[in-house]
Amino acid sequence: MASPGSFSRLRTKLMFIYLLILTILCICEAQKLNQTSIVFFLQDIASTAPNATVVPVIGIKGKDWSFNSFGTIFAVDDPITETPNRSSNEVGRAQGILVTSALDGSNVSVLLSIVFTNKEYGGSTLELHGVSRQNERFKEVSVVSGTGSFRFARGFAVFETIYYERSISYSIVRCTIRLLES
Ligand SMILES: *[C@@H]1O[C@H](CO)[C@@H](O)[C@H](O)[C@H]1NC(C)=O
Ligand SMILES: *[C@@H]1O[C@H](CO)[C@@H](O)[C@H](O)[C@H]1NC(C)=O
Ligand SMILES: *[C@@H]1O[C@H](CO)[C@@H](O)[C@H](O)[C@H]1NC(C)=O
Ligand SMILES: *[C@@H]1O[C@H](CO)[C@@H](O)[C@H](O)[C@H]1NC(C)=O
Repeated sequence: MASPGSFSRLRTKLMFIYLLILTILCICEAQKLNQTSIVFFLQDIASTAPNATVVPVIGIKGKDWSFNSFGTIFAVDDPITETPNRSSNEVGRAQGILVTSALDGSNVSVLLSIVFTNKEYGGSTLELHGVSRQNERFKEVSVVSGTGSFRFARGFAVFETIYYERSISYSIVRCTIRLLES
């Protein structure tokens, strides 16, 4: 016959094993989460022309309102296309603000909503937030959340400028988004 003491020890042991199995199951479940990649292209005109899609709205008095000038705030509404070609299908818009946030002008804070309008994700959004190191080839920011199909989204976005036409301040920016599926 087991004494009450050994019975309670056995119960504690069983409880411990049960918790251990639960923990392992949770870790396995988390690792099984699939990653999804979404790639699209921002069509960006950062000029003073009427067709501009990135426009400085305020900056430090007496200084240039530019990407290299600390304190400049831009409003953004870039069309997003399926391929680099400007005439390709519009997938949505990249809307938000950019702020030159490093004193030396090297970093820009990005607050962008990817507002999808296409068939697949129309009505859903992704929220991008982070610091963009302007002078680097790849600029990584976080995906902090989303709505619609992207509720509870988490991941990151990488921007790379793949085409630039200086005379009209036109650039095509590839955006690759990696998300964990929940
Ligand atoms: C991950 O993808 C595989 C294959 O597409 C699928 O069978 C599986 O259910 C997915 N897992 C999750 C957690 O979505
Ligand atoms: C924007 O408009 C200007 C003229 O105002 C034009 O020269 C330029 O090509 C346009 N930019 C693009 C990317 O179409
Ligand atoms: C871009 O797309 C348009 C319309 O689909 C097409 O006529 C044009 O040739 C394409 N341009 C390039 C460079 O592929
Ligand atoms: C720019 O941001 C990066 C982090 O992304 C940081 O390491 C770097 O120090 C920043 N540069 C300046 C001048 O603030």
